[in-house]
Amino acid sequence: MIILETLLKTKKPSPRIPLWFMRQAGRFLPEYRELRQKYPSFLEFCRNPKDASEATLQPLKRFDLDAAIIFSDILVIPSALGQKVEFLAGEGPKLAPITSDQDLALLNFDHFEERLQATPEALSLTRQALSKEKALIGFAGAPWTVACYMIQGGGSKNFDEARLIIAKDPIFFDNLMTLLVEATARYLIAQAKAGADVLKLFDSWAGLCPAWLTEKALVQPVQKIIERVREDCPETPILYFPRGAGEKVLTLGGAVKADGVALDHFIDPLFVREVYSKGAPLALQGGLDPLVMAAGGPQLEKEVYRYLDAFKGLPYIFNMGHGMIPSMPIDHVTQTISYVRSWEKESNRNLKITG
Ligand code: CP3
Repeated sequence: MIILETLLKTKKPSPRIPLWFMRQAGRFLPEYRELRQKYPSFLEFCRNPKDASEATLQPLKRFDLDAAIIFSDILVIPSALGQKVEFLAGEGPKLAPITSDQDLALLNFDHFEERLQATPEALSLTRQALSKEKALIGFAGAPWTVACYMIQGGGSKNFDEARLIIAKDPIFFDNLMTLLVEATARYLIAQAKAGADVLKLFDSWAGLCPAWLTEKALVQPVQKIIERVREDCPETPILYFPRGAGEKVLTLGGAVKADGVALDHFIDPLFVREVYSKGAPLALQGGLDPLVMAAGGPQLEKEVYRYLDAFKGLPYIFNMGHGMIPSMPIDHVTQTISYVRSWEKESNRNLKITG
C-alpha cells in the first residue's frame, strides 16, 4: 500500500504521517552536486532518464521519506513546444519571450512527446527501483505560472511585464492558456501511465494572479487539466499548489477539484483548520517555513509540532511551504523527520490509551 497515495484518495488521516520535501531532489545534497557536474546544461540532465532517476532516488537513500518526486522542471513544457529555454548558472531560467499570437504560432506539438520522453522513462525506471509503500510523484507547472515565465522570458519578482501584456491582449493570453492546458494534460497523463502514483501541479506564482483573472488564469485551466487527467487516469490523485493564494487556498483547491492542496508558509495552519470543515473534502500538505528548517534549533521543533497539532485528525502530509534551499543543513532534515516520527508515536500511543 502506498501511504501518501491512499491518504490523497481517501482523504482520511493515516497513522503514519506521510512526509516528503518539495525540491528534495537536487540542490542541497553533495551527491546531487556531483551528478550535476556531468552536465553543462540543466535541461540535458533532465533529458537523461538514468541520471534523472538517480537524482530522484538520492534523497530516499539518505532519509526516511514517503515519496520521491521525479527530477525535472516546470519549464520542460515550453521547451518541448519549441520555445528556446536555457538555465544560466547563477541567473536562473532564460526564455525567448512569447508575447503575441505571432510568437505563439511558432509553438506546436510536432516534437512534443519525443522531447519529453525522458520524464516517463525516468518515472518507469524509478518506480521499479522504489519500494512499494513509497509514492512516486510526477509534476508539471500550472498554466498561469508557466505562462508567466513564457511571456516574461525568465524569472521575476512581480512578472509586471508579463501581466501588462496579458491585460493588453486577452485573446493572446486565452490562446496561450488553451495551448498550455492541452500540453500539461498530455504530459501529466504520460507521467501517470509511466508509473507516477500521484501528480502535482505547481502554481508557484498564484499569489501574483490578480482577482479579475483568477477564474480565467487559475481555476478554469487547472480544473480542465484535472478533468482531462481523470478521464484517462481516474486512479491517480492530484495535488494543487497555489502558492501565495492566501485565504483562497482551500476554495481554489475545491474549485479545481483537486484531491489535495499544498500550503505555503504564509497561511496560518490554525486558520486553515478553522475553515477546513466548511469546504470540499481535501487532503492538506506542507506549511513549514524552509528558513525555519534551515535555521534549526528549538524553533524548528516548535514549528513541526505546531503544524502536526493544527492538522491532527485531518488528512495531512508533512512538507515545507516551499522548496529546499541549496544551503539546507542535512542534519536539520534528519532532525525534522525525527520530530515528525516522535510526534506520531506519541499521538498513536494516546489514541490507544483513550480509544
Ligand atoms: O522537487 C524536486 O526535487 C524535483 C525537481 C524540481 C526542479 N524544479 C528541479 C530544479 C521541481 C519540482 C521543480 C519545479 C520548479 N521549477 C518550480 C515550481 C516549484 C517552486 O519552487 O516554486 C519552478 C518555479 C521552477 C522554475 C525554475 N527551475 C527556476 C526559477 C530555477 C532556477 C532557480 C533555482 O531554484 O535553482 C530552476 C532550476 C532548477 N530546477 C534546479 C533544479 C534542481 C537547479 C538547476 C541546476 O542544478 O542548475
